[in-house]
Amino acid sequence: MHLLSAAGVAVLLFGIVSQVSGLETVTGIYGETLEVPCNRGVAQPEYLLFSQWKYDTGAGQAETLMVKKKDEDATVHAVDGYKTRVSMADNASLFITAVTLKDQKTFTCMVVAGSTVNEYPVKVVVHKDPTNLELLDQAEELEIGKLAKIGQCNAIDANPAANITWYKNSKILSADGKGIVIDASVQVDPVTGLSTTSSTLKYSAGKGDADARFTCGTLDLAGQPQVSSPVTFTITYPTEHVSLRMHPEGVLLEGDSVTLRCVADGNPAPTTFNFFIKGEIMNVVDSDSYTMTNITRDATGEYKCSLAEKPSLEASINITVSYLNVDLSPSAEVVKKAGDSLAVALTVKSSGDYKVSWTKDKVLLKIDNEPTFKNLSYADAGLYECHVTLGPLLRTASFRLVVEGAPVIRQLTKRRGEGGQHKVLICEAEGYPKPTVTWSVNGTSLDESPFINGKVSHKITVVPSANLTVYCSVSNQLGQYVQGINVSSLYEEVRMDKQDQSDDGDQTKLVVGIVGGLLLVTLIIGLAYWTYMKRSKQGSWKTGELENGSSEEEKKLEEKVEENSQKADM
Ligand SMILES: *[C@@H]1O[C@H](CO)[C@@H](O)[C@H](O)[C@H]1NC(C)=O
Ligand SMILES: *[C@@H]1O[C@H](CO)[C@@H](O)[C@H](O)[C@H]1NC(C)=O
Ligand SMILES: *[C@@H]1O[C@H](CO)[C@@H](O)[C@H](O)[C@H]1NC(C)=O
Ligand SMILES: *[C@@H]1O[C@H](CO)[C@@H](O)[C@H](O)[C@H]1NC(C)=O
Ligand SMILES: *[C@@H]1O[C@H](CO)[C@@H](O)[C@H](O)[C@H]1NC(C)=O
Ligand SMILES: *[C@@H]1O[C@H](CO)[C@@H](O)[C@H](O)[C@H]1NC(C)=O
Ligand SMILES: *[C@@H]1O[C@H](CO)[C@@H](O)[C@H](O)[C@H]1NC(C)=O
Ligand SMILES: *[C@@H]1O[C@H](CO)[C@@H](O)[C@H](O)[C@H]1NC(C)=O
Repeated sequence: MHLLSAAGVAVLLFGIVSQVSGLETVTGIYGETLEVPCNRGVAQPEYLLFSQWKYDTGAGQAETLMVKKKDEDATVHAVDGYKTRVSMADNASLFITAVTLKDQKTFTCMVVAGSTVNEYPVKVVVHKDPTNLELLDQAEELEIGKLAKIGQCNAIDANPAANITWYKNSKILSADGKGIVIDASVQVDPVTGLSTTSSTLKYSAGKGDADARFTCGTLDLAGQPQVSSPVTFTITYPTEHVSLRMHPEGVLLEGDSVTLRCVADGNPAPTTFNFFIKGEIMNVVDSDSYTMTNITRDATGEYKCSLAEKPSLEASINITVSYLNVDLSPSAEVVKKAGDSLAVALTVKSSGDYKVSWTKDKVLLKIDNEPTFKNLSYADAGLYECHVTLGPLLRTASFRLVVEGAPVIRQLTKRRGEGGQHKVLICEAEGYPKPTVTWSVNGTSLDESPFINGKVSHKITVVPSANLTVYCSVSNQLGQYVQGINVSSLYEEVRMDKQDQSDDGDQTKLVVGIVGGLLLVTLIIGLAYWTYMKRSKQGSWKTGELENGSSEEEKKLEEKVEENSQKADM
């Protein structure tokens, strides 16, 4: 080649061909275009006359690829496979398309500038990541403690040969010659020169490996790991322990259902169990559970289970069925007469120590035992509840006590109203059901107290224009009670008050003492009034209650009134 010889002439002439030190290496990606820079890409001088690329064919021979003269386009000189794959840029870089391993050699760039000839050799290496990373021959089950082949990992068609690493749960597995054995081999494709690395992992699994994820991987050109899809294994091991559990846990009550579950730690789990239920053996196949429904207190006791295949592996559990039966007498509504007695009986049957508390009308009673009633009063009436607890169990029983009785008047009182313009009469009665209070006179009804503990009190105001006995009558379904009170005329009192500011008390005496002369007149008026009342039963002091009664009844009433008024009059 004349150009080559021209260079050779130049070398001969000037003898200044300098080999730039340090062999540069460029790495190409398999199958892609590779740029091989001349003199590390340092810009060529303006006065560059000539540049040329050649490659080392081995045995000291060199083949020219491309040549470029000043102010001319680069020309391809290659005649071999490079003819269509090479090109040259203005900056003297050589471009090779579709690089393969065969391009791994030394290319040399020669430049002539003025009288200087420089050569820059560049070593080309070609890298290829594995085409594929496959994990084959996976085992299905691993028996615990036995070295078994996990699989074979192939990193196919790489350059340089891939270095396969094994991982368990993303942590590197290093061969230790015992539990972890890794064998790797490399095969080179005779045509492409690409390497396929095969690595097998043998591994001795433990119980903890049941869910372990095994992967294999390589590092790519950028140093990033490329990892196969993970594989997991069923780890098999024999049962060493059984345990017996119950569901639900906690307090069991009569009527509950309870499931006993025999749990074995082997894998695969045993499928046949024996349950020992109250002296009977229950063989259970394809299940590890035995359910008892609607249990009673008799179910309390010790239960066992064992493996059917290995009866020596057994477990036991103690079951306690709690119960709390409360029987309260009386249990519903009980109606008693005031003064009666009532016996309360509480019977508790339980599986353990229990606590009892009592409430009356939702208010806690400070009593240790059941309430006792020797002499029932109206205040004793109410809703009685007993609360019996045993751990989390609570039973409540109750009865409602009704104390009834014919009404009686506890107090019949009078007092003067404010300003002395009227009198206030108060009738306090006791009884159950609620007594109705009526008066023998029309007064202004002031108010009636609430009916509490069988007590009610009724107030009226009257403006008496003459002396009179006023009757308060209380009645309910069970009876009636009448009491009278002597009320003196306000007119009289007003007069008397001028002499003495004393109370209603014993005005009779005062009147006698101070206005003796008037006594006779007054008596006569009183008597006339009494007669008038009895006959006509009319006027402002009409005694409504007695209006329709027969003369017989009136008599009786009068007798009673006399008795009572002795207590009541003030
Ligand atoms: C040389 O020139 C080519 C084409 O212009 C360019 O792609 C490449 O990056 C250049 N190389 C250097 C080292 O400058
Ligand atoms: C392969 O990888 C292992 C672990 O990453 C490393 O110790 C070893 O040197 C590597 N071998 C090669 C040939 O790169
Ligand atoms: C549970 O057992 C009791 C007595 O043993 C019985 O009276 C009741 O009917 C049973 N209940 C059910 C739902 O079987
Ligand atoms: C069950 O109770 C019995 C007798 O009280 C006792 O001997 C046994 O150890 C208990 N078993 C378990 C599992 O607690
Ligand atoms: C019952 O109680 C009432 C009212 O407190 C009382 O009057 C009566 O004497 C008592 N009877 C007995 C037998 O204690
Ligand atoms: C009313 O009673 C008083 C004593 O309480 C007596 O002094 C007076 O005379 C009586 N009046 C009549 C009209 O009876
Ligand atoms: C008492 O009141 C009743 C009903 O309001 C009435 O019919 C009667 O006449 C009154 N009697 C007197 C004496 O005022
Ligand atoms: C009330 O008056 C009547 C006569 O009107 C008399 O018989 C009776 O004793 C008097 N009662 C009292 C407690 O003063």
